[in-house]
Amino acid sequence: MSQQQKQSMFISIDGIDGVGKSTQIQRLTEYLEGRGREVMTVRDPGSSEVGGKLRKLLLESDLVMHRRTEAMLFMASRCEMVEASIRPELDRGLTVISDRFLLANVVYQSIGGEVAAEELWQLGLLANGNLRPDFTILFDMPAASAMQRIKGPTDRMESRGVEYMEAVRQQFLTQLPHSSDSVAVVNADQSADAVTEEMLARVAEFLSNA
Ligand code: TMP
Repeated sequence: MSQQQKQSMFISIDGIDGVGKSTQIQRLTEYLEGRGREVMTVRDPGSSEVGGKLRKLLLESDLVMHRRTEAMLFMASRCEMVEASIRPELDRGLTVISDRFLLANVVYQSIGGEVAAEELWQLGLLANGNLRPDFTILFDMPAASAMQRIKGPTDRMESRGVEYMEAVRQQFLTQLPHSSDSVAVVNADQSADAVTEEMLARVAEFLSNA
C-alpha cells in the first residue's frame, strides 16, 4: 500500500430514513477497498456495547423523554463509538465510514425547536472530542418517497410521520455545510445504480483534492 493510500480518512453518510444508505455504503466500501484502502464501517447509534444498548433504548422503545435528553443519549453512544472504535482505527491509517454521525444528531433533535442546532453542534463536538468527518455525503430525496420505501414496523423516529421527516430533510440541507470542510449532496431519488454512479463521482472528486 502506498503512503497516500495509508492516510486515514473519515467519511460520514447521512440522510432521512428510507434513502437507501446501507446499499450505497456497501458499494462505497468496495470502491475504496479496490483503491487499496483498508475500510471499517460503523453505525451511529451503535458499534459498541454501550452504543448497542442505547440504540435499543432510543429507537425501539416508546419512552417519552425531552429532546435534550434524547440528544444527550445519542451523544453518549457516539462518544463510546469514537473512543472505542473510530479513533484507534484512524490512528492505524484506516478509512472509516460512519453510517450517520453528529450531523444527524443536530438535525433530528433540533426539529421542533426545543433545542437549538448551534447548541447541539457545540455539545456534540464536546462529546466526541472534536472529531469531524473529512467528507460528508448527504443522500437527499423527498420524505414522501423515502417513507414509502420503509418496510416493516417503523422505529421511534420514523413513526413521527412524513411532515416531521420532510422538516428533517430541509434541516439536513441547511446544516450539512457545518458537518465537514468537504460535503456532497447526492440525489437518492433514482435507481440504486444511478445513485452509486453519482456518489462515486463525488468521492473521486474529493479524493483527487485530498
Ligand atoms: P438508522 O441507523 O437505521 O439510519 O436509524 C437511526 C435513527 O436514529 C434515524 O431515524 C435517525 C436517528 N438519529 C437521531 O435521531 N439522532 C442521532 O444522533 C442519530 C445518529 C440518529
